[in-house]
Amino acid sequence: MSDFDAHSHSQPNRVRVTHCALSLIADFKSQILRGSVKLRLQRSDPNAPLLLDTRDLDVKQITWQDAQLPFRVGSRDPILGSALEIDLPPHADLVTIQYTSLPHASGLQWLTPEQTAGRNHPFLFSQNQSIHARSWMPIQDSPAVRITYNARIKAPENLRVVMAAEPNGMEDGFHLFRMDLPIPAYLVAIAIGNIEFEAVGPRTGVYAEPCVLPAATQEFEDLEKLVDAVERLYGPYRWGRYEILILPPSFPFGGMENPIVTFATPTIIAGDKSLVSLVSHELAHSWSGNLVTNATWSDFWLNEGFTTYIENRIQEEVYGREQALMEQVLDRRELDKELTEFPPGDQILHIDLFGRDPDDGTTRVPYIKGALLLRQMEHVFGRPVFDDFLKRYFDQFAFQSISTEEALTYLRRQLFDLYPECAAQVPLDEWVFQAGLPSSAPEADSRRLQPVSESARRWFAGDMSTIELSAGEWISQEWLEFMQNLPRPIDPSKLAELDRAFNLTSSNNYEVLQEWLLVAIESNYQTAFPRLESFLMEVGRIKFLKPLYTHLMMSAAGESFSRLIYRRARPRYHPIARAAIDKIVYFSR
Ligand code: BES
Ligand code: ZN
Repeated sequence: MSDFDAHSHSQPNRVRVTHCALSLIADFKSQILRGSVKLRLQRSDPNAPLLLDTRDLDVKQITWQDAQLPFRVGSRDPILGSALEIDLPPHADLVTIQYTSLPHASGLQWLTPEQTAGRNHPFLFSQNQSIHARSWMPIQDSPAVRITYNARIKAPENLRVVMAAEPNGMEDGFHLFRMDLPIPAYLVAIAIGNIEFEAVGPRTGVYAEPCVLPAATQEFEDLEKLVDAVERLYGPYRWGRYEILILPPSFPFGGMENPIVTFATPTIIAGDKSLVSLVSHELAHSWSGNLVTNATWSDFWLNEGFTTYIENRIQEEVYGREQALMEQVLDRRELDKELTEFPPGDQILHIDLFGRDPDDGTTRVPYIKGALLLRQMEHVFGRPVFDDFLKRYFDQFAFQSISTEEALTYLRRQLFDLYPECAAQVPLDEWVFQAGLPSSAPEADSRRLQPVSESARRWFAGDMSTIELSAGEWISQEWLEFMQNLPRPIDPSKLAELDRAFNLTSSNNYEVLQEWLLVAIESNYQTAFPRLESFLMEVGRIKFLKPLYTHLMMSAAGESFSRLIYRRARPRYHPIARAAIDKIVYFSR
């Protein structure tokens, strides 16, 4: 049962894809990828057909050697897409599929020049997690199936192609890439645009549009230190180089851990490195996620919980304990909020996603509840023991996809059984299979944030004036703490005073700005609304969009305002973001 993936049509135990050779032309005019994929097969059941996942692909022909193979495209499931079933002759172990993607492929976003930072060149990027690889390549789109791949990509001459792989030169006008380490399809990635590169260390560097590159390299100048820090904690970095690609602002996520090249939103460039934890997070996935991978999306907490824990350890190593603690406090507040709002089933680490879109499982629960379980183990077993355990876990399961059951069995044998007295303090089954948090869950506490929340209450009550706030030097986490502790609504004239003192409406820190815009919406502080409008037109990060549209939809005036903006902004959002915001704006009442 453990290797059954409810989100893939493939049956890898009968016929498994082991290597994939992509040859694609990026046609920006038609917004399609056109070409072929060659798949190498391992056939355990000689009578079984090859089963692949597709979604909205135009499959033209399938061949083995020079023979055409019969194939059938199954009916289209709204979540899973269509199975592609290919009959295989007895010795066929390499099939070639000619196909094109469609312009609305859910895993691609084709940007016009106006949607980029430089506004002069078009841009394309992919986002495969969770099950969007199938919208631009016919593949066994399950995290349990690992493939190596190589690719040849043709793009307009003045544009650079970046893939989550090793660049391998040019040939006949095609950019070549290779990935020799076995990865799941959700980690295949491509971006094409006016992209430049700058190294920040011997094996680290930053890609971005030229006008963003200087700020980006400055913000992420610690990349090499971050990699060194994780290696000290959990063993060697096995992917060669570590780079980060800053995408245009419509990128729907904060970051995506594509191997070798993390894809990231430009909204983490705060100017003071206060949002670098996102990079630590994506880097941590080079161990938890990319090296040891969840076998199905129900095991997603193995990816994200472990990663969120490691992220915080990296932050502590590189930026100090106080920074790490501030981040823990803010994370915990987000989790607590969701635990009061979500049905019990969605509060379980090992979540049942049968019949659901796996993207529904990307709540704070697998991330923060998962990390809290690991933090409790760290406290109970002690850091040296737990760090050593994690290192061994990564060695043991390197380049494998594992289920919750397998991870728990290893945990019990290799840690709990060795220290039974400690183990008794960790209610493992409750953590993994029950809703809510165990009462023994560790608390987070930050000495630097305490006075800030205190100031918020006193300022709101009028016991503290705006100039007394001494917020001039606050970093992101302090501003978030301040605003999250403000009761709502607030008298708009008080907000105007705060705004005059600290220029919040014109802040270039998107985390702070988003929180401020939420306060503004809830308090009907009209001065911020033009900025809110430009924010919604420009930024496509779902984490920001969801709360902003949700809060707007709560008032009658906000509702028509949000419908008006959304009609104009929607075409600029990523297909995944559109689906999420459609639910809020069009189907919420
Ligand atoms: N792997 C996730 C992004 C993801 C998860 C995309 C599921 C699609 C489906 C990535 O590592 C991540 O967690 N990104 C977070 C940032 C993190 C610091 C919490 C994000 O994008 O907000
Ligand atoms: Zn993650």
